Amino acid sequence: MIIYNENEKVFNLHTKNTTYQMYVEQYGYLLHGYYGRRVADVKMEQLQNYYDRGFSGNPNQAGKDRLFSLDTAAQEYTSCGIGDYRVSSCGVINRDGSTAADLRYVGYKIYEGKYAIPGLPAAYDNNDECETLEVTLEDPYTGLRVVLYYAVFEAQDIITRNVRFENAGVDTLTLNRAMSVCLDMQPGDWDVMHFHGRHCMERQPERLRQPHGITRISSKRGTSSHQHNPFVILASPEATETNGDCYGAMLVYSGDFAAEIEMDQFNQTRLVMGINSETFSWQLESGASFETPEVLLGFTHEGFSALSGMYHRFIRNNICRGKYKNTRRPVLVNNWEGTYFDFNQEKLIAIAEEASSLGIELFVLDDGWFGKRDDDYSGLGDWYVNEKKVQLEKLAERVNELGMKFGLWIEPEMVNEDSNLYKAHPDWALKIPGRAPGRSRYQLLLDFSRKEVVDYVYNQISSVLSSCNIEYVKWDFNRSLADTYSLALPKARQGEVRHRFVLGMYDFAERLTRDFPNILLEGCSGGGGRFDAGMLYYSPQIWCSDDTDAMERILIQYGTSFGYPASSVGSHVSAVPNHQTGRISSMELRGAVAMSGMLGYELDLTKLKRAEKAQVRKQIQTYKKTADLVMNGEYYRLSDPIKNPDYCAWSFVSEDKKKCLVNFVYLHVRANAPLINVRFRGLKPDAYYKVRGTEQVLNGAALMYGGYTFPITMEGDGYPIQIYLEEK
Ligand code: DGJ
Repeated sequence: MIIYNENEKVFNLHTKNTTYQMYVEQYGYLLHGYYGRRVADVKMEQLQNYYDRGFSGNPNQAGKDRLFSLDTAAQEYTSCGIGDYRVSSCGVINRDGSTAADLRYVGYKIYEGKYAIPGLPAAYDNNDECETLEVTLEDPYTGLRVVLYYAVFEAQDIITRNVRFENAGVDTLTLNRAMSVCLDMQPGDWDVMHFHGRHCMERQPERLRQPHGITRISSKRGTSSHQHNPFVILASPEATETNGDCYGAMLVYSGDFAAEIEMDQFNQTRLVMGINSETFSWQLESGASFETPEVLLGFTHEGFSALSGMYHRFIRNNICRGKYKNTRRPVLVNNWEGTYFDFNQEKLIAIAEEASSLGIELFVLDDGWFGKRDDDYSGLGDWYVNEKKVQLEKLAERVNELGMKFGLWIEPEMVNEDSNLYKAHPDWALKIPGRAPGRSRYQLLLDFSRKEVVDYVYNQISSVLSSCNIEYVKWDFNRSLADTYSLALPKARQGEVRHRFVLGMYDFAERLTRDFPNILLEGCSGGGGRFDAGMLYYSPQIWCSDDTDAMERILIQYGTSFGYPASSVGSHVSAVPNHQTGRISSMELRGAVAMSGMLGYELDLTKLKRAEKAQVRKQIQTYKKTADLVMNGEYYRLSDPIKNPDYCAWSFVSEDKKKCLVNFVYLHVRANAPLINVRFRGLKPDAYYKVRGTEQVLNGAALMYGGYTFPITMEGDGYPIQIYLEEK
């Protein structure tokens, strides 16, 4: 619900449990009033105090009034270059070379439904579930207009924001900073939780007390990256999984981003988040406009699990789209770790036959089916089938005959110099004239900021996808951007290349999902290097990590769960010794971990022993029964494996709280071990639950308030226990 109080010029945005407020002050600046637990429709002015502070100046029109300063006031979206010395929302270079924008309130609009952001992924409204507020600010000196958009998803407790810059003046100006959100926090101390990592160990949570100064979480790799994720949480220092104030900010964007959190001289904290201004600038001609990506804001006073639950539901219902949004995903087998590049038709068919006999539903042919691609030195860009290795149509037919769907791997934005595409169009690769571009995995990037390049690659790939019955695509991206320069853009616009690259990639994704609505798209970037809400708009699941070691995956899936639902996590059982770590873990553990995401297998199934095959068969049967719980249930982290690395526990509870699957894994078994007690969550206190496979009946309150003490084991590290509860 959006309420505007004309007399006091106050906007109150209420969701079921939260209130977000802004108001216009006497000089026309839009101040941030409040964001937190739901309050009445009152102006929260008592939160602001104005003093004459040294070195914090005042607007010219304030005359001798030295109390109001942009340097100290809580603002909704800051001006720049006019006396707020904290991190700012925007940055400009005007025609005269000056770098100021003085943004004053001009007007507003409120309407039913969700605003649109052309060319960018964004949350959508299912059935008139949200309202939009548009607030326009303008710099009277240049005519730069900044339109702030807010969509209020009342039932979900989520508010989305995005900003449109419009040049209503006559002169071209340059935007060199265009953040999607500015959030001046409530007074107090805040912890910053962010998710860092590396290839093969993505999204590890780290919690820091925000110091004075700036904490900056960012990527300039051209993707959201393995190293940092565009999701941050600001939490009260006391916040736990079950209690305490938590604010989430998740950027719906897959390119260079930054989240900057600053605690100022008066202990006030500001968060800004958006496209990384280090690698961005945009020429805004008279009459032109620029849209920032969207940010999803969420608040709860009930701790991290509640915040995660809000994001999980919102991503599932208001970000993910298409046929597989709510449908159980087929259990797949992917040949990558099974064969790498070394395959032929017979080998693939043998794996497919085995897969079908085990109950697998989708066969995925990974890298190496196209061009000259027997290793990673050549072939990218040549999207036609290498008939010497594989006859795609026949393979798809055989896979279909076996009762399975057929899927294919692609990496559209890349090119090897050793390819026909590069020979024909060397100028289509991103490189700076006169410099030799760096290679990564021996590949270069195609200039996806150019429409003709996207068109060409799309036509090549879509004709393969139309050539036979392909029902799944894995979209990979295996290097970071560097040497960015587009021959299609003038010198003054080179700062636009990286964002235009992302827009080109989204254009490709939009066409793919529109033209092939039956295809299940799985995102990937060397595992989880582009795991973000932007990609989830196109692909409801993403290959979570190239690390398929179950013990490591527990940590990766733990960190990922803070922002992203299990329905978005592609997770596979692979061979032992594991190819990334050499660790040998049991089939039970590998199964339990992979079944906590969207299950797949990634190994040469023909090499499994008979007993292992029986285990796979059983796993798939079990998975089919629990998949709905994993996809759509409430997810609870029941332990913190970073604080206590001896074990990890997590659970899925159905919406009606009648079913619950608890997973427990001993990560490090100790001799004469201390007892481990875990409190279950999300059950009905009064209900009695039967433990599947036993005669045991346990009470909900007893399990939640007393907990469950897990038996000590001597089975070694990685011993998994699964408890499936069903209400009696
Ligand atoms: C990186 C991916 O994450 C792997 O799963 C596999 O598809 C390879 N690329 C193929 O080159």
